[in-house]
Amino acid sequence: MINVALPKGRLGDKVYDMFEAAGYECPSIRETNRKLIFENPDTGVRYFWVKPSDVSIYVERGAADIGVAGKDILLEYKPDIYELLDLQIGKCRMAVAAPKGFHDDGERTLKVATKFDNIARSYYAGRGRDIDIIKLNGSIEIAPILGLSDVIVDIVETGTTLRENDLEVVATVVPISARLIANKAAFKFKTGAIEEIVSKLKGLVERNGQDL
Ligand code: PRP
Repeated sequence: MINVALPKGRLGDKVYDMFEAAGYECPSIRETNRKLIFENPDTGVRYFWVKPSDVSIYVERGAADIGVAGKDILLEYKPDIYELLDLQIGKCRMAVAAPKGFHDDGERTLKVATKFDNIARSYYAGRGRDIDIIKLNGSIEIAPILGLSDVIVDIVETGTTLRENDLEVVATVVPISARLIANKAAFKFKTGAIEEIVSKLKGLVERNGQDL
C-alpha cells in the first residue's frame, strides 16, 4: 500500500482527480460522508484527507509515504522531504501588498503582517530591510487597514481579496503551486511504486500543459 496525504478542500479535489486520471482511483472517496481515510486494494493506494498545512508533517514523519503540499508550506516550514514533481495546479503567488498608494520610504522599521513569517523574514533579509513581523493566522488583509501593519505578505490568487479591501500588490515574493512530496525512507523502500506514480502524474501534467 502507498499512503497518500491529500490536502482537504478545493485543491485536494483537483489532486485526487489527477491521481484518478493517472490510474489510482478509489471510488469510495467520492461518496459524501465524513470519513477521512479511503483505500483501494486493487490499485494499492490508501488516501487520507488532512489539513493542507499538515500534509508535509504527515509525510516528513512517515505517516504518509507521499502527499501534495503547496510550495508556500514547503518554503515556510522547510520539512525534510523529497519534492518530486510540480503538479502545476493550485497556482498563485506569495506577494507583498499594501494600501493603495503606500510608499516605503525605508526610514523606519517596516511592520509586516503575515502567516508566513519565515518567508517574509528571508525576503526582507535579502533586501537588507529592517522589519517587525506581526504573525497572524488568517484575514491578514485587515492588518494594514486597521494600522496594525504597514504591509502584508500573503497568498494572492485572483487578487479579489486585495481589490475588495483597497490593497494592491507591491512586489511578488515567489510563485506558488502544488508539489508532490515523498517521505525520504518511503522513497527508498517503495521506490518502484512511487516512481510509477510520479511518472504517470508527470505524463498528465505534460498533457494538461499542452491543452492550455
Ligand atoms: C488566501 C489568502 C487570501 C486569499 C487570496 O486565504 O490568504 O486571503 O486566499 O485569494 P484571492 O487573491 O483569490 O482573493 P485563504 O482562503 O487560504 O484563507 P486565510 O484567510 O485563512 O488565509
